[in-house]
Amino acid sequence: MESTRSRLAHRLAEAGQSHLVQFWDELTPEQQAEMTSDLEAMDFQEINKFFRSAMEVSHSSKQEKMDARMEPVPREVLGSVTRDRDCLKDWEEKGLRCISQSSVAVLLLAGGQGTRLGVSYPKGMYDVGLPSHKTLFQIQAERILRLQQLAEQRHGVKCCIPWYIMTSGRTMESTKTFFSRHSYFGLCKDNVIFFQQGMLPAMDYNGKIILESKNKLAMAPDGNGGLYRALGTQGIVEDMDRRGVKFIHVYCVDNILVKVADPAFVGFCVQKGGDCGAKVVEKTNPTEAVGVVCKVDGRYQVVEYSEITLATAEKRSVDGRLMFNAGNVANHFFTLAFLRDIVQTFEPQLQHHVAQKKILYVDTQGRLIKPDKPNGIKMEKFVFDIFQFAKAFVVYEVLREDEFSALKNADSQDGKDTPTTVKHALMSLHHRWVLNAAGHFIDENGTRVPAIPSLKDGTDLPIKCEISPLVSYGGEGLEELVSGREFRPTLVIDESGAHELVKNGL
Ligand code: UTP
Repeated sequence: MESTRSRLAHRLAEAGQSHLVQFWDELTPEQQAEMTSDLEAMDFQEINKFFRSAMEVSHSSKQEKMDARMEPVPREVLGSVTRDRDCLKDWEEKGLRCISQSSVAVLLLAGGQGTRLGVSYPKGMYDVGLPSHKTLFQIQAERILRLQQLAEQRHGVKCCIPWYIMTSGRTMESTKTFFSRHSYFGLCKDNVIFFQQGMLPAMDYNGKIILESKNKLAMAPDGNGGLYRALGTQGIVEDMDRRGVKFIHVYCVDNILVKVADPAFVGFCVQKGGDCGAKVVEKTNPTEAVGVVCKVDGRYQVVEYSEITLATAEKRSVDGRLMFNAGNVANHFFTLAFLRDIVQTFEPQLQHHVAQKKILYVDTQGRLIKPDKPNGIKMEKFVFDIFQFAKAFVVYEVLREDEFSALKNADSQDGKDTPTTVKHALMSLHHRWVLNAAGHFIDENGTRVPAIPSLKDGTDLPIKCEISPLVSYGGEGLEELVSGREFRPTLVIDESGAHELVKNGL
């Protein structure tokens, strides 16, 4: 024990992290044992190296704006649901064929801490208050089920879309238990594969690891780009290979509208021969704080709003659109071959980004302090950091109102990206699906509600309507249920048909 302790003390001293054991004598033997095993498992030299290079990159990127090095996405690598309408059917057909051959997997990034939403459980377990009270996980699972069914119907063969779910030390156990408790939402258990990303300690600005209590380091997941290291360490690439997966759709847990394994997106990327693809939505407001996909020094990457000047953000092309308008929605396509190259060759070249945060810590007297301004950094890699390594990068533009509404924050008045805004986005999409399938809505007096409901009291409340993903993946198959019929909200369409909910509980 003594030699373990002195070896550890030596390693800590060498790495300049001796303060981590400053409360050692106050700890119980159990706490000492736990802390020893936490510290033994850490590679301090590596962590210090990550810190130095992350700070260096962060410092130099603050000095220099990207503007002069940026070029927009060229039209030849771009597919668009609005500008290439003639191709959509072909792309969708191609994607469905790949799905029917069980060569498409989906990969969910669900390792985040969801600090802004502020719940103690994983974000995928959140119920945004739909009539069905389905959670984000359930909505996604049911879309997978429906898509498998559509591919099977089209091609007459049984198929499966494996679902890889990346969690972190903070979300793994509760996520697994939740899936098991809900019988994997009807999916085959063997085709839902959980794996865990790495964690890194939070550091102060001098590179000292922060203690969140006398016996615990402040640890956080290493960003959604921690995916690539985890794919290697957890044997996920091999698992994909074994299952015959060739194409992977990667997405974030918080997008309630996400089209998992979107056949049109997959089909487009495959048809174009892309090894790496990004789904984007058009950025229309120059000051919107969204990262844009573009080329920098000839290589693709996502450039954050803070990295460019307003003049560049406002630049327009001849068609009047913003020149840098490919808004990133963290929705990506990769071939397995590309992912393998990343894991085997390029991952170590990825740099951590610095996120300045308010991090709870204990001071030298052992008092817990809640800082009111950022006091340290978390180091994160981003899922899009690998665009630079693509040999054939492609971009697919979709409509934001159809495909992207992210849950980031807790409800508040006029809040953005809240449970209320994402619920409304989903209901508004489903409302449009019903109208497109020739269904109608009536109000409490039996009068038809206009297709574009008027603004009531300055608020734009959508028609209350929810369609189960088990019935429709993307608006298909609704005519027989709604055509020519009138519905009084709340309308719920599920496997047993279209129902008006008597009680309006929303
Ligand atoms: P965000 O960056 O929005 O983080 O993640 P978050 O954890 O959801 O929320 P905040 O910032 O703490 O409030 C975007 C996506 O990336 C995943 C999240 O789960 C989400 O799907 N993510 C984030 C990871 O998988 N791992 C991470 O380390 C960070």
